[in-house]
Amino acid sequence: MQLAHKTIILTGASGGIGSAIAHQFALQEVNLVLVGRSLAKLYALQRDLPGGPHYLIEADLATTEGRRQFDTQLTELKTQGVSIDGLINNAGHYEFNWFERRGLSDIEQELQLNLITPIEVCHMVLPNMNRPGIILNVGSTFGSIGYPGYSCYCAAKSGLHRFSEALDRELSGLGVRVLYVAPRATRTPLNQPLIVQMNASLGNREDAPETVAEIIAQMFVSETSSRWIGWPEKLFAKINQLLPDVVSRQIRRQFPTLSLYMDEVGHKEPLHLNKSAHHKELFR
Ligand SMILES: NC(=O)c1ccc[n+]([C@@H]2O[C@H](COP(=O)([O-])OP(=O)(O)OC[C@H]3O[C@@H](n4cnc5c(N)ncnc54)[C@H](OP(=O)(O)O)[C@@H]3O)[C@@H](O)[C@H]2O)c1
Repeated sequence: MQLAHKTIILTGASGGIGSAIAHQFALQEVNLVLVGRSLAKLYALQRDLPGGPHYLIEADLATTEGRRQFDTQLTELKTQGVSIDGLINNAGHYEFNWFERRGLSDIEQELQLNLITPIEVCHMVLPNMNRPGIILNVGSTFGSIGYPGYSCYCAAKSGLHRFSEALDRELSGLGVRVLYVAPRATRTPLNQPLIVQMNASLGNREDAPETVAEIIAQMFVSETSSRWIGWPEKLFAKINQLLPDVVSRQIRRQFPTLSLYMDEVGHKEPLHLNKSAHHKELFR
């Protein structure tokens, strides 16, 4: 798809990767529908963007009420003559922690925002989307590699990958492509300082959000079905499909560090000290 003069919806627009995508696409003469929870942040972003018009939708997509608001405002845009050529499902969030320590409502929210919300947003946008149209879902390396501390985020992003693949195949020949991108760690507010520190100590590399935004723009133009960003993450994602035990062995080596950070996150009194000590002993 050629980007100039297309209208594309972007969720999580005021976040780190979202605002980089907004700038990248606005520079390529895309008109954006910026979606986020804070109108003030969306106005600030809109002011900074070249070109336009860019439209704003204030909605908390993690809630039923917010998704209803999104749908209503989308219909209003349609009555104003705005027609949609693309959708980027980018809003997302995770909590890094021991699975057992997490509350069920937190887990539900994480699955909602990272998996169910993008599916529902596709369902709302698709019927009135122009042909040709493109939907791009933002996943994660963790959608391809089950990683300790991120179990529910891995489940959600992996579900989002399969959903994207299935819908792309279902819509083949009907003028809408459904693409999936899997960034690795990226320098945005999503990653708390503790996570940044942990990634550094594990030797995990980070990308700038602008790098991710450039790749997403290229994917729209080339209509690439899916893309994993960064080495060795891309390689590990492939090996994990074919030889998951090889990846498990590599992750076990990282486990002492991971378990220390999981103990540290949000808790003064680590619940799993014995478990961590056990793992340290096991993987020395
Ligand atoms: N940063 C990374 O290391 C990394 C790596 C791989 C994949 N990703 C994925 O990239 C996407 C963008 O992440 P980012 O790094 O740009 O994170 P970010 O800076 O934290 O931005 C996340 C965006 O998601 C929205 N969001 C967060 N929690 C929400 C909630 N409860 N309800 C509704 N919206 C919510 C926020 O919208 P508001 O503006 O309304 O707050 C925010 O704009 C996510 O899907 C993430 O999973 C990120």
